[in-house]
Amino acid sequence: MNFNDFTGRKIAYQNHSSEEVVEMVEEGEMPMSSYTLIHRDAVLSAAQKEALTSWAKAIQDTIKLHYPADSLVLRRPNAPSK
Ligand code: HEM
Repeated sequence: MNFNDFTGRKIAYQNHSSEEVVEMVEEGEMPMSSYTLIHRDAVLSAAQKEALTSWAKAIQDTIKLHYPADSLVLRRPNAPSK
């Protein structure tokens, strides 16, 4: 996941990635434990987790306001269309 080109990606990708950020931060999967084991200052406090997840949720809210639901479904590039 690269936020440098985030807004240039498909809207379905932006939506999906924001969902992943919420999920991974809430479940403690990210930042990766193999990294935080050594870099203790990268461990997120409860307030930092809250800041990150509410930011990612706000992105989703904005996307859902502006785009129809069926445009937010991520499709594999060569998947047959229904
Ligand atoms: C708050 C900090 C972080 C957030 C919110 C975050 C979020 C994410 C998300 C959403 C993904 C999935 C990307 C996708 O599905 O396209 C991901 C994957 C990954 N992240 Fe992080 N990340 C964080 C910090 C880190 C750190 C510190 C490391 C390691 C130094 C790391 C290493 C990775 C790796 C290696 C993957 C790919 C894992 C895989 O495909 O199995 N992340 N991260």
